[in-house]
Amino acid sequence: MAMENFKQFLFALSAAVSVGFVSTIFVLRWVFYFKEGLAWDGELAEFNWHPVLIVTGFICMQGIAIVVYRLPWTWKCSKLMMKFIHAGLNILAFIFAVISLVAVFDFHNAQNIPNMYSLHSWVGLAAVILYSLQLVLGVCIYLIPITPIYLRAAFMPLHVYSGLFIFASVITTALMGITEKLIFGLKYPKYKDSPPEANFVNVLGVLIVVFGAIILWIATRPSWKRPSEQVLRSLPTYGDGSAGTKMGTALSQQTDPIDPEGNGDARRRSGKLEDSGQVN
Ligand code: HEM
Ligand code: HEM
Repeated sequence: MAMENFKQFLFALSAAVSVGFVSTIFVLRWVFYFKEGLAWDGELAEFNWHPVLIVTGFICMQGIAIVVYRLPWTWKCSKLMMKFIHAGLNILAFIFAVISLVAVFDFHNAQNIPNMYSLHSWVGLAAVILYSLQLVLGVCIYLIPITPIYLRAAFMPLHVYSGLFIFASVITTALMGITEKLIFGLKYPKYKDSPPEANFVNVLGVLIVVFGAIILWIATRPSWKRPSEQVLRSLPTYGDGSAGTKMGTALSQQTDPIDPEGNGDARRRSGKLEDSGQVN
């Protein structure tokens, strides 16, 4: 196949998609079976939109958006098309996160509960604000064609680092939120007495951690990175879906003028930098 260690990639990707899917089922079962369901009425059913939209949108959708460039069957698609998909999924994830915040603030105001008192809410709001900044900078630097090439290349390591950092913060915030909700919500029996709901939702927390771990693994393997446009175009098979097959003989170049965001992937693929642990 086209990609190095393709079977391992396929295994990791299937595991991420399966764990993400099961997490979605778990959060839906939590709110519909153990809790009050979903509604927009200022009551607990309105609060429940908060975990549902966070798990489905801000965690699962963001995770998929992060690894979308790495899917080898998309390497035959243009970089511009992949940028639209990456940006589009991230924008959708952001919309889910914002609606989930509106739900929890509206619920707090309707019930006269103070706003922004917990560590969960501080870290969570900071993550959403950083995410919106990442979106705006991503669109301005990589989608609007006026940004100079040197700036696109120079900003890429920061874009990748902050993307992964925000994703990890979102998972951490979700774990804090889940714990808070179980401690506040479980009365008879209490959380410490391990009722079925507590065990069920603890498993949801573990699933979210596993999902995050797999996404971070996929996104940090240098050999699974999308080849730069110059490398893809240099291959005679470019456009027929087998673009990666000649990767071993690909050109070595640091900043590709056609694809300045490419991060010198061909150098890493040649092995030497990978061996020395250097990523950029
Ligand atoms: C409240 C953000 C995930 C449970 C809040 C508040 C924010 C926030 C900003 C404060 C609302 C206010 O003060 O009116 C986030 C973000 C998440 C996230 C960014 C993304 C990871 C979760 C999850 C749960 C949860 C998965 C699980 C049920 C709660 C609870 C509150 C709350 C119980 C009310 C208590 C408090 O303000 O700390 N969240 N949340 N959160 N969230 Fe989350
Ligand atoms: C790559 C995160 C928004 C353009 C990446 C990577 C991450 C990431 C983690 C590394 C992926 C990899 O190595 O395969 C995010 C997050 C965003 C966001 C969390 C939203 C908050 C955007 C936007 C654009 C963009 C709006 C505009 C088009 C790119 C480009 C790459 C990239 C061009 C390089 C792909 C490559 O290596 O071939 N992003 N990103 N990102 N992102 Fe974003």
